[in-house]
Amino acid sequence: MQKRDLLYAGKAKSVYLSDDPQRLVLHFRDDTSAFDGKKKEALERKGMVNNKFNAFIMEKLQAAGIPTHFEQLLSDTECVVKKMEMIPVECVVRNLAAGGLVRRLGVEEGIELAPPTFELFLKNDEKGDPMINESLAETFGWATPAQLSTMKSLTFQVNDVLKQLFLDGGMLLVDYKLEFGVFEGEIVLGDEFSPDGCRLWDAETREKLDKDRFRQGLGGVIEAYEEVGRRLGMTFD
Ligand code: CDP
Repeated sequence: MQKRDLLYAGKAKSVYLSDDPQRLVLHFRDDTSAFDGKKKEALERKGMVNNKFNAFIMEKLQAAGIPTHFEQLLSDTECVVKKMEMIPVECVVRNLAAGGLVRRLGVEEGIELAPPTFELFLKNDEKGDPMINESLAETFGWATPAQLSTMKSLTFQVNDVLKQLFLDGGMLLVDYKLEFGVFEGEIVLGDEFSPDGCRLWDAETREKLDKDRFRQGLGGVIEAYEEVGRRLGMTFD
């Protein structure tokens, strides 16, 4: 697999074409951003940690029957993925209240959400990823009702697999964001799954082990990501 021209550089990952027209190379950079890119910093080792973390999780999801774009690791900070047509809609599931839900509704952080909630956001940095719904997505052509229904069902399947996986490592999966695309007519999980795009708390102490450490300036960001990986049986060196 040969890496070719840069196709797109996001806030934390760069996407390259490859010698296979059906495959892309994702490069996980050390760059970390929050608050729609207003807070930015390069955190040493983050690209490597998130690349390996993402590969581990994507393989678990694939094994559970959830189609993902992940194909293989290419280097410490790169992996090969299927070239999909991305759907510009972010799917968020929450098991416990945190972040935007607490800010929006004024509920207490940490209360259990039963059943877990499902929200849609438009992937649009300029507009600050506004919350949307199925009707808006259909009307504006961001996703069809059939696609949205599959995305919702896959997002909850991911919850079943990962809630248990993290619980086995003594962690609570508080919430997470997923993105999907279309590959050969099928809805496939894209983007990444790492502590950058989910919230994970220690099950006993409720210590934050995810990007909230960066958002809230708590320090020990990458140390926490590595600790999460270690608890799942991963090694990073
Ligand atoms: O992160 P924030 O509080 O602004 O938003 P949220 O709606 O509470 O985020 C829910 C979950 O989705 C968290 O785990 C975020 O890290 C993740 N998320 C993300 O990865 N990318 C976004 N653009 C928005 C949310």
